[in-house]
Formats: sequence, structure tokens, C-alpha cells
Amino acid sequence: MSPSTARPTALVTGPTSGIGRSFARRLAADGHDLVLVSRDRERLDRLAADLHASYGVQAEVLVADLADPAQLAAVEDRVADAARPIDLLVNNAGFGLRGDFLDHPVEEEQRLLDVHVRAVLRLTHAALTAMVARRHGAVVNVSSVAAYLPRGPYSAAKAYVTSLSTWADLTYRDRGVRVMALLAGFTRTEFHDRMRVRTGSTPSWMWLDADRLVEEALRDLARGRTLSVPSRRYRVLATLARYAPTGLQARFQGPRPR
Ligand SMILES: NC(=O)c1ccc[n+]([C@@H]2O[C@H](COP(=O)([O-])OP(=O)(O)OC[C@H]3O[C@@H](n4cnc5c(N)ncnc54)[C@H](OP(=O)(O)O)[C@@H]3O)[C@@H](O)[C@H]2O)c1
Repeated sequence: MSPSTARPTALVTGPTSGIGRSFARRLAADGHDLVLVSRDRERLDRLAADLHASYGVQAEVLVADLADPAQLAAVEDRVADAARPIDLLVNNAGFGLRGDFLDHPVEEEQRLLDVHVRAVLRLTHAALTAMVARRHGAVVNVSSVAAYLPRGPYSAAKAYVTSLSTWADLTYRDRGVRVMALLAGFTRTEFHDRMRVRTGSTPSWMWLDADRLVEEALRDLARGRTLSVPSRRYRVLATLARYAPTGLQARFQGPRPR
């Protein structure tokens, strides 16, 4: 708990839209102070003011591009700050790349890896160091059911996040700290618009609502789950994806470029 407010504090990366915004709102409604981290200062300031006005919580803004090592280091320092402890870290920020692996410069893939893997690794390390010392805290790492499919570097990054989280939960649970991977299915956010891919051919039953996804994920965290796969349909799909032969897995491609 933060000594000044006696409210728990959650740090959410990527809260300016989609799943991260749902986390920020849900956690504020549940009485958390927030640290909001992304690149867009204007949207962050607006969200912070909105959360304060709606729920009476304190919301701190930390502008950072998580692909930039120096800016990421500032976020690591905030997570590690013993004077202003973070009770819950939500590693959510992320993006996808449109098109074939060979269609864009490798630097774009490196950026994806930096945000989805490097930042998650370093922030999880900073959080676990502080939390294990206090024997209190939790980390939610936003992954994807794509972790179970051979769908390029994005899937590989999410497989890393899922595996890291599973291991960390098994390792640090007995020391009072929880880690959970949230494996999201297709969720209505800005993700696919930012990628400029068509989503029209994805059947409507496959789309999840971000608020409901987050509600279910937080319930799973409270229940002590290591993996959260919101909605019964995605639990079935994730199981099929995980155990299907590779040739069958590869046939599932998802939204197409515009
Ligand atoms: N939507 C889906 O279908 C789906 C499915 C499975 C998993 N996911 C995962 O869910 C997470 C959230 O995605 P979303 O669907 O909510 O997408 P979204 O609506 O596009 O939100 C992405 C968030 O990440 C932030 N972000 C992106 N790059 C960043 C960077 N370099 N540094 C700091 N912040 C950055 C953005 O903030 P700024 O632009 O303000 O920096 C934004 O707040 C991602 O990890 C994604 O892989 C999404």
C-alpha cells in the first residue's frame, strides 16, 4: 500500500486505449491509485484527470516509449521505488506488425521484440525484486492465445511472455508474489486499426469486449490462476490451438492486411 494514501497502487503500461484502458478504469474503480505509462502525454493526462474525477484516486503520468532503453529505465526506476511501492504491475503495452516478416525492415521486428519481450522482462524483474522483498504484490503480463500458434515473431514474443509468467508464478508464489499471464483472444481495441488490417472476415463471435476480458482476468488473478484465458470459447480454442498438429495450427491466420 502507498503510505500517503493507504490505497494500493497499480502501474499499467499502454493504458491510453483498449485492454490497458480497461485495466486502468477497473483498477481505479476498485480503489487503486494508478501510474499510467505510454507515449501519448495528451491521452495520458486526459485519462489521469478522468480517473481522478470519476473515482477520486491519484493517477500519475509517466510518458515513455518502452522500446527506448533510457525511457524504459525510468519506468524500471519507478517500479523499483521502495518509497512509492507498486502493488500490481500490468505489462500490457503492445502492437502488431502488418504483413510478411520479410516485407518490413528488421528494425521494426526489433522494436516489437523490445516492447513485448525486453520491456516485459525488465519491468517484471524490477517488480519482482521489490515485491519479493516486501513479500507482497502481483504482476499481470498481457499475452495472447497466439502464443500457441506459429504466427511469426509476435506469437513467439507472446510465447515468451506466457512461459516467463508461468515460471515466475511457480517460483515466487511461495514468497508472497503472484504472476499471471492473460491470454487474450481477438478483442475490440485500437490494435488492428493501428496495424491497418481488415477485421471484417473475423466472425463476430470471436471478438471479446475489453472491459469483460479485464474483469475476468482480475477474477482469475484473485482466484490464484497462473494463466487466464477469458471466455469459454477462447478456453476451447486455446486448448485446440495448443495441442493441434503444427500443420493445422499454421492454417489459422487471423485478420488480413487492408
Ligand atoms: N486486441 C487484440 O485482439 C489482442 C489480442 C491478444 C493480445 N493483445 C495484446 O493486448 C495488449 C494491449 O493491446 P490492445 O489490443 O489494447 O491495443 P491498443 O488499443 O492498440 O493499445 C495499445 C497500447 O499500447 C501502448 N503502446 C504501444 N506501443 C508502445 C510503446 N512503444 N511504448 C509505450 N506504450 C506503447 C499504446 O499507447 P500509446 O500509443 O499512447 O503509446 C496503447 O495504450 C498488447 O500487448 C497486445 O499484444 C491484443
